[in-house]
This record gives sequence, structure tokens and C-alpha cells, in this order.
Amino acid sequence: MNAISTDMVATGAPVAIRGLEKRYGAVVAVHQVDLEVKAGEFVALLGPSGSGKTTILMTIAGFETPTAGSIGIGGRDVTVLPPNRRNIGMVFQRYALFPHMTVAENIGFPLRMRKIGGAEARTRVEAALAMVRLEGYGDRRTSQLSGGQQQRVALARALVYNPPLLLMDEPLGALDKNLREEMQLEIKRLQQRVGATVVYVTHDQSEALTMADRIAVMDGGRIQQYGPPREIYDSPSNAFVAGFIGETNFIDGHVAGGAKPVFAVDGSEQKVALEASGAPREGPSRLAIRPELIRLGDPAGSELSGTVEEMIYGGGTVACHVRVGNGAVVMARVPAADAIGVRLGDRAGLVWQADRAKVFPR
Ligand SMILES: Nc1ncnc2c1ncn2[C@@H]1O[C@H](COP(=O)(O)OP(=O)(O)OP(=O)(O)O)[C@@H](O)[C@H]1O
Ligand SMILES: [Mg+2]
Repeated sequence: MNAISTDMVATGAPVAIRGLEKRYGAVVAVHQVDLEVKAGEFVALLGPSGSGKTTILMTIAGFETPTAGSIGIGGRDVTVLPPNRRNIGMVFQRYALFPHMTVAENIGFPLRMRKIGGAEARTRVEAALAMVRLEGYGDRRTSQLSGGQQQRVALARALVYNPPLLLMDEPLGALDKNLREEMQLEIKRLQQRVGATVVYVTHDQSEALTMADRIAVMDGGRIQQYGPPREIYDSPSNAFVAGFIGETNFIDGHVAGGAKPVFAVDGSEQKVALEASGAPREGPSRLAIRPELIRLGDPAGSELSGTVEEMIYGGGTVACHVRVGNGAVVMARVPAADAIGVRLGDRAGLVWQADRAKVFPR
């Protein structure tokens, strides 16, 4: 094995999950999940609490046995292999450092487990400390470190034996917002440098959007969508994904009109033209449109219009809440300059590019 050094690019291991199912008695934690992660790719498992993220990670690591399906790492079927033979680095939410050991002893622990000692162990620990920018901290007790520093030690401990696959479960969950954002970029840079494949669990959408090459959005033990951040954000494949990632207005109505489809807003006479190719079959549906894609227009010339009920100033932008039908309030986030002269109670038109609205069956 080579000692890790900062200029070394290891080869990440691809991960192939096929037909994965995990039940705990009557609870089905994971349903028929297929997931391919390429070598060196950074994949985020993103979803609400209880959606099955940790369960998937634990079956990759080997701490949980699948009820059905298989796990492949680096082209090898590891479904029945014990965790210590999978060569995986792991980082968890609570750093789980050994409090009675120094920083260097903590980082060197996985090497001791692998019977690597002496000068080689020292070189590797030094290199791992440098990677996480903690040179000179080796002799400190872990209790003398800040939360961010402790999380870096946990990261160094996972990287010290240069694993081709790193699994992380909400590793930044215990940190405050600023530190979390700083560490997100740091982990991402580090991953790119060492070349390891990463599967990263988070329920924080901005974390997933910032860090991941691809995001698997989970709900109810199933992958709802798997794709690059842009695709997930711009083309959500169902209403759950549209609602979970970013801000979205949902408007209930009906699709009608065949070749020239329109969306008729429930509880009003208003109809909005739809992009013919993206429109679902006629019937009850839900239109989803992001607030930042809506402009305010002349109510007379706009397909959709309503009454301005609320305006919330947010610095450069203003969130205008416009009631368009019985109960439906649409929020447009517009540049502050576009909201000058708009008053509560005014009629306002709401305008967007037809192809930016998504319509899902209800
Ligand atoms: N050991 C267990 N016994 C019974 N049910 C379990 C067990 N572990 C997990 N579950 C259930 O499986 C489902 C998925 O849990 P999991 O921990 O994978 O969710 P998660 O997405 O990681 O959630 P969180 O964001 O809260 O960590 C939940 O309904 C959970 O209650
Ligand atoms: Mg979890």
C-alpha cells in the first residue's frame, strides 16, 4: 500500500446496488432500490427523516444485511462480506472520536487495526492531518478541539488508509451554519483531490445541491429521482421532488384542451397555456412553478392574475403573494426594482415561460 500524500489521486470504487430491500419486521425501510455510483463520483442521498437513507448506507457498509438484493463495490459482490473486509471509510454525525486518545492516536487507529505501525503510520497520520489542515494538532486531546476541528479529525481518520469508498451520514449535522458551509466545500475539494467515491447522506437540500455530482432523492424507502443537481432542480420528476427541493408554488387545477393544452385553475375562470409536450393527460392535476421564474405583468394582458396580498422584502428581491383563485396563493420572487409601485390590494398579472412550469397528475 502507498502512503497517502496530498498529490496522490486514488481510484474510487464504483458502487452497484440492485433490488435492495430492507425490512424490520413489518416496517419496510427500503423498497427495491437500484443505485449505480460511478468510480470517483460524489452521490448524495437526500430525503426527509425516516426515508431510508441511513439504512441504505448501513447495508453498503455491511452493518445491516439486506432482506433482498445485492451490493457491489469495485466490481465485487460484497452482499455477504463483513464490514471490516469492505475497505470503506466512514464518517458519522457525531464524530465518535475516542476521548482518551490524542488526535494522532485517533487518526492512527485504523492503521493499528490493519497492523501498520512505525514510520509508515507516522507519515500517513501526518499526511492525513495536513489534508484536513490540522498540522501540529497531533498531540492535542480531542476534547480540546472545536466541533469543526473534531469533524476534520473524524474525516482524517476515515481517509488515513486511503479507502476507495467513503460513506458519510450527516457528518456536518452538529455544526453551525457557517462552519457547515465551509466544511462542505472543504470535503468536496478533498474528495476531488483523493479521488474516492463518496455516498453522502443528508436531509439538507442545499448541502446536496452544493456538494453532489448526483442526488438520489428519497421518500418512503424509495428513490424518487436520481440525477445531477440541475436536473433535479429544473426537472423534478414528481410533485414530491418539486416540493422537497427549493421553493415551489403548487396550483391545483385541471388539464384540458388536447393538442393545445391549458391548465384551468380550480376555483377561478383562469386558464394558463401549457407546453404541449410536457403536459400530462387531461384531468385533475397540479401545476408547479418556482417563485423566481415568475414575473409581474399587466393584469389585463396576462393569462393569470390576482390580488396582491402580501409583500415581503428580502433585500434584492421581494416576495409577492398573489391570490389567484379560491384559496390559491402564488408567490413570485421578483427583483426589488420590479416591485416598485406595487401596492397591497393591487391587481397583478403573473407571467412565466410555459416550458418552465411542470404539471403533475393529482
Ligand atoms: N433497527 C430498526 N428497527 C426497526 N425499524 C427501523 C430500524 N432502523 C430503521 N428503521 C425504520 O426504517 C425507516 C428508515 O430509517 P432510516 O434510519 O434509514 O431513515 P433516515 O432516512 O436515515 O432518517 P433520518 O433522516 O431521521 O436519519 C424508518 O421508518 C425507521 O423507523
Ligand atoms: Mg439517518
